[in-house]
Amino acid sequence: MPRASHSALRTVGRVTGAAALAGAATLAWSAGVEVRWFALRRRTVPVLPAGHEPLRVLHVSDLHLTPSQGRKRAWVQGLAALEPDLVVNTGDNLAHPDSVPAVLDAFGGLLDAPGVFVFGSNDYFAPSLRNPVRYLLPDDGQRNTHTPKLPYGDLRDGFERHGWTDLTNRRAELSVKGTTFAFAGVDDPHLGYDDLAAVAGPADRSAHVRVGVTHAPYLRVLDQFAADGYDAILAGHTHGGQLCLPFGRALVTNCDLDTARARGLHRHPPNTPVGDPGSSWLHVAAGLGTSPFAPVRFCCRPEATLLTLTPRPGFVERRTVG
Ligand SMILES: [Fe+2]
Repeated sequence: MPRASHSALRTVGRVTGAAALAGAATLAWSAGVEVRWFALRRRTVPVLPAGHEPLRVLHVSDLHLTPSQGRKRAWVQGLAALEPDLVVNTGDNLAHPDSVPAVLDAFGGLLDAPGVFVFGSNDYFAPSLRNPVRYLLPDDGQRNTHTPKLPYGDLRDGFERHGWTDLTNRRAELSVKGTTFAFAGVDDPHLGYDDLAAVAGPADRSAHVRVGVTHAPYLRVLDQFAADGYDAILAGHTHGGQLCLPFGRALVTNCDLDTARARGLHRHPPNTPVGDPGSSWLHVAAGLGTSPFAPVRFCCRPEATLLTLTPRPGFVERRTVG
């Protein structure tokens, strides 16, 4: 073989070897470190009337807990030390038929705080073996509906026994430290379970703050809540993209939300000024877990978020008096 061909082959071999090594290191990091590297995020959301004391709302989502995940359970138990004024749980708690006691144990002291919840597809159907790469491919929501049902009724009973409010296709009012919340929630839009007609209509202007809650942030739901006058919308489902580019740029949201809003605090519709009628804050949680059959995260740490609700600058209270 000519010397030049030999050299070219050696170069190809080195590049291939380096790429394989980088791939193995990335996989080891994603599956061995980052997927358990829990983060507490903090964001401020100015939605309260003037003069109201700030309220601390813990947003948890996508726990995907199996009974054997002790480290995740312990980290979530530790969130009770934050003593939030309110907990919002946007679903996908379960990942195993025997997970309900583990989930209730994980939330532990958080269940003593006022709470609201909706369910996601993974609360209803057991996870199944899949190629993690399929997470990056379009999903119509029916991928997992052939699997056994999970005991979501027991989970609902457990949450409600502790006083948390089910927002599945319903509205509810809650008073937290003198601040009244008007909530609307939908069942998981990823499965087409959302009954928007059941909750649509102008949000209650007599409440101090209005919040829409959904598992999957599909645009039809966000548009409806924003148009109806909800000040903030909380969602999960996206896992923040789960497998992201360096610096956290998501490649997918697993729904029709744009990847720029796969996680974090944004406006809906995008970039609308605060106070614009028909616009809202949108917080999308990257969530705490993954399917047990795709236990990888890259540039997208598992997280919970403490949202501090503060008064809106220059906001004049519109609450009816007398
Ligand atoms: Fe999830």
